[in-house]
Amino acid sequence: MKQMIIEGNHPLTGTIHIGGAKNSAVALIPASILANGVSTIQNVPNISDRDALIDILKILNCEVKVDKDVLKIDTRNLKNALIDEEHSKKLRASYYFMGALLGREKYVEIYIPGGCNIGARPIDIHIDGFKALGAKVTIEGNKYILEADKLIGTDIYLRFQSVGATINLMLASVLAEGKTVIHNAAKEAEIENIADYLISMGAKIEGAGTDEITITGVKNLHEGKIRVLPDRIEAGTYIILGALVGKNLCIKDIYPKHLEALTSKLKDMGSDITINKDNIVISKVESLLPTNIKTLVYPGFPTDIGQPMAVLLTQANGTSLFEETIWENRMGHVPSLNKMGANITVKGTSSMTIGPSKLHGCEVVATDLRGGSALVLAGLTATGTTIINDVEHILRGYEDIEEKLTKVGAKIKIKEI
Ligand code: EPZ
Repeated sequence: MKQMIIEGNHPLTGTIHIGGAKNSAVALIPASILANGVSTIQNVPNISDRDALIDILKILNCEVKVDKDVLKIDTRNLKNALIDEEHSKKLRASYYFMGALLGREKYVEIYIPGGCNIGARPIDIHIDGFKALGAKVTIEGNKYILEADKLIGTDIYLRFQSVGATINLMLASVLAEGKTVIHNAAKEAEIENIADYLISMGAKIEGAGTDEITITGVKNLHEGKIRVLPDRIEAGTYIILGALVGKNLCIKDIYPKHLEALTSKLKDMGSDITINKDNIVISKVESLLPTNIKTLVYPGFPTDIGQPMAVLLTQANGTSLFEETIWENRMGHVPSLNKMGANITVKGTSSMTIGPSKLHGCEVVATDLRGGSALVLAGLTATGTTIINDVEHILRGYEDIEEKLTKVGAKIKIKEI
């Protein structure tokens, strides 16, 4: 078990370099098996979810070489195999092997995925889509068996703009016969990144990044190459940190366009923020205005930034309202923030924050990835020492967090207990 210890209330200054997007990388890695060859993924974040997916590739007899942030994935000797519960449950994104293996092998045996406990997280939209493409799906306890003689392109309407289902159905349909149209597709920037990777392998995909994606099946795919786009959630987390304790804190190697929902809120709150071509510079101000936030699918306010943002709302001068619309259970950070001195009341999936509150360090528990990152921000803002338990959740999604924050002046240590 890992624990994070933070001495808070130090101004942070300098530059934080943002890595590749977790939620793109975790789909790009499984997508590699659709190609027969050695594919290259650059700018892969050094996070534990990456390692969990590499372990699954090894179960499938793929060879993986890691050289800093570059992965080379050799799928030429792929052997289809059961993806067991231990490996599947380590993360959510293991379910991308459903679409990818179904596409290449027309047969998948995999246990239900894991991931943060932020809601029921059903996968019915994925399964309905696979069935529409012609797959037979059998559920045996926690195990799914997906099989098809062949997959045939069709029109698929998603009842919700699910990120995971959109990607999984792209993966399953690139090698299907004929044309697949995904209607009401999710529009997240990560989806374009996956589509670009598949296109580099010879796939025919149009409309990724819009709500209608058309995939024309091809017979086979060759090795591909892609660079993972910058992680807008890691960037957003550190931009909020800059508003909390920054002194010209520069968040670099980002696409500010992907962060507009956040940056426009920060401007409304009266932050000192400068947006440049590939970086954002932000400093703490004397007093912030309260605001109201509702999370929405992209390009709305990202649910994954809601929890870090909760910390900033504790520092605004007045009452802020927050409504989470994507997940049913994304308030796990609130008891810890209140223990640190915040005044947050939760009702269902909404919360009311009365600020400003003086936060003080104490011992808290990370309940999930982004809830954990909220506690890191709170710890860096609070006076005294904050001890965060169950830090493994945070390490799933924030690469080199200790090093990146130490470099800008934070007093932070992760230790094994
Ligand atoms: C992705 O999850 C991200 N995870 C999540 O980030 C992110 O919060 C979410 O998209 C929304 O932006 C990864 O990319 C690995 P969804 P995903 O399918 O794909 C319901 C983080 O902190 N739904 O868009 O699982 C679902 O219950 C993580 O980095 C169904 O009902 O999200 C939810 O209410 C957490 N049936 C909503 O749709 C389905 O078959 C959105 O889910 C699929 C989803």
